[in-house]
Amino acid sequence: MKVEEAPNPLAEGLHDYRVADPAVMVIFGATGDLSGRKLLPALYNLAKQRSLPAGFAVVGTGRDDLTDQAFRKHAADKIHEFSRTQPIDDRVLAALLDSLTYVKVEFSKLEDFKTLAAKLQELDNTRLIPGNRIFYCATPPTTYELIAVQLQAAGLNTSPGFRRIVIEKPFGLDLKSARALTETLHKVFPEDSVYRIDHYLGKETVQNILAFRFANAIFEPVWNTNLIDSVQITVAEDIGLENRGSYYDRTGALRDIVQNHGLQLVALVAMEPPLAFEATAVRDEKVKVLRAIRPLIGEDIEQSTVRGQYAKGWVLGEQVGGYREEPDVAPESPTETFAALRLFIDNWRWAGVPFYIRAGKRLPKRITEIRIQFKRPPHLTFGREAMKEVDPNALTLRIQPEEGISLKFGAKVPSAGLRIRSVTMDFQYMTSFLVEAPEAYERLLLDCMIGDPTLFTRADEVEAAWMFIDPIEESWRNGRPPLGTYPAGMWGPPAAAQLLQADGREWHRP
Ligand code: BG6
Repeated sequence: MKVEEAPNPLAEGLHDYRVADPAVMVIFGATGDLSGRKLLPALYNLAKQRSLPAGFAVVGTGRDDLTDQAFRKHAADKIHEFSRTQPIDDRVLAALLDSLTYVKVEFSKLEDFKTLAAKLQELDNTRLIPGNRIFYCATPPTTYELIAVQLQAAGLNTSPGFRRIVIEKPFGLDLKSARALTETLHKVFPEDSVYRIDHYLGKETVQNILAFRFANAIFEPVWNTNLIDSVQITVAEDIGLENRGSYYDRTGALRDIVQNHGLQLVALVAMEPPLAFEATAVRDEKVKVLRAIRPLIGEDIEQSTVRGQYAKGWVLGEQVGGYREEPDVAPESPTETFAALRLFIDNWRWAGVPFYIRAGKRLPKRITEIRIQFKRPPHLTFGREAMKEVDPNALTLRIQPEEGISLKFGAKVPSAGLRIRSVTMDFQYMTSFLVEAPEAYERLLLDCMIGDPTLFTRADEVEAAWMFIDPIEESWRNGRPPLGTYPAGMWGPPAAAQLLQADGREWHRP
């Protein structure tokens, strides 16, 4: 019997029983990669857990001239290929497909948006939907502003119900463009209708950072500069570019991961307890952390940041080419595929505690983790010899894969003498709850339909993150520090290790 079919008392109460309001979701870019891999499978799984109401419809749009039937066939294929739950339940799938229609939309053509408006009106009438609309931009970021402007021109920013627009990162390429994007969006939708997706926030393990910190009494008292030596955040991927060369070569690891996923993890680890798990309270606290990050300027950037690019090498036993050989990458490209940096948060809780972040592609394995490194005990009661095999306490929050939390501490080795060695206490999601966590997109789509923006990034968070990143980007574009290289399958260029060695520390080997 498969694990998910077994009666599981531990899984009781794990089901998300929230049901969305009747609405039409318009997916721009409905035949694209994001829609096929993530959105359509997530909608199927939401339908399967009965979170979609009867009056729910999806309108796929794209440049291709597709019939409803052809779009439904496309959706069915993608759901079969990418749904996290298998086998596919034919009845659930058939009902979902029935709610799918397709409209050809070219973003430059206002008539297409008017056709879309007529289709939405028709769906409202036939499916008794009270004018609620979600516009999901699963399209390149360069299209967001045009889509918003055309929605307004076609009168699609008014309706009797709610209207929400969902956009994907990157939210701008720097502070200036992020502000311009927000300004354009705000002409059409108020901030509380703009849902900026950072899919890391939808990951169960990322939300668990807050549960771990604020649903337990014992961790908060030690969660500060008094006992914490340093924090390491690793977002490592073994994969290369996966045909996203033209996007990635303009973006790089700093903007692709550190500006958003990396700094969001910093914010969740470092924030003060919010008054409630509610959008304004949570996002207010996150933005305070982001604003308290000490800016890196001038020489700090050379001393506190590292950038690298992979050359050919071996990853997981397979020989792979270098970054510059990837399709759609410039032959002399200076884009970094690895970024590491040291930052400080200037507030009472974190004074003097370095946060190290590293992110990269073609590293030895896929792993995202946060390591909280505690200080050494103030006095060696058992003497240096007995303690020589003991590392200071460390807490590892494993975001993915093998989601869980482990705490390292010293224990007496069972023998006549007194020797202490480091041991680990482990919590693993899979063994404690016996279920696989839902996909981040399931959670985020449902939150958006319900109107809960807690796990979406607000404009001021995005801006605070760019304020920190912009000077680093600028210095990197001017060649400071120089771009290092690393063979694919290594943990970044040598300078990454030296960044911590300079502080008498080393990266945790996950
Ligand atoms: C995306 C980045 O935001 O996150 C990708 O654009 C990266 O480059 C991906 O591969 C990683 O997401 P996950 O969920 O696989 O850790």
